[in-house]
Amino acid sequence: MLTIISGTNRPGSNALRVANYYKKRLKEKGHEANILSLTELPGTLIESDLYGNRSQEFAKIQETVSNSEKFLFVIPEYNGSFSGVLKTFVDACEFPASFYDKKAALVGVSSGRQGNLRGVDHFTGVANHMHLHVLPLKMYLAGVEAELDDNNNLHKEETVKFTDEQIDKFIAF
Ligand SMILES: Cc1cc2nc3c(=O)[nH]c(=O)nc-3n(C[C@H](O)[C@H](O)[C@H](O)COP(=O)(O)O)c2cc1C
Repeated sequence: MLTIISGTNRPGSNALRVANYYKKRLKEKGHEANILSLTELPGTLIESDLYGNRSQEFAKIQETVSNSEKFLFVIPEYNGSFSGVLKTFVDACEFPASFYDKKAALVGVSSGRQGNLRGVDHFTGVANHMHLHVLPLKMYLAGVEAELDDNNNLHKEETVKFTDEQIDKFIAF
């Protein structure tokens, strides 16, 4: 199973819009993907699912993670790095089995000019620690509001070309 993780629980996030775009393009290329938005995390996560605790709500999410072999993380830039809730989610997942020797592609998203270059690098370090193999071709969507049209499609020719290249490599990865 292939799962796209939208790396924030912020309502109306651009990360989720980008995640949906990737799901659509993967489908157009013949590959089904599941979306796991961090808006689905239990509100009690920090009390109910860290340090050996497990809620029924998170157990379903853990099952999705456990059954996934490949992940595509869409990672918003928050204060110059990846979101805190993404790290909390990773910390709540069973270790090491959840991500061990699995594969991932990373997509950075920001309002500003960096496209979360640094946060994607930070997350690559976390992935390396977990033995989660990261596709070398990473995407950095800076000024994401201007990248997406009203139908939540990436519409700039160059962005579509590079994201398609990443998707093709992710499929072959
Ligand atoms: C807590 C927080 C911190 C943020 N910090 C940055 C930042 O350091 N640099 C930046 O370009 N955008 C920053 N943003 C804007 C996000 O990059 C922007 O909302 C973008 O759409 C990705 O986040 P989203 O998926 O929540 O929409 C921040 C947003 C939030 C909510």
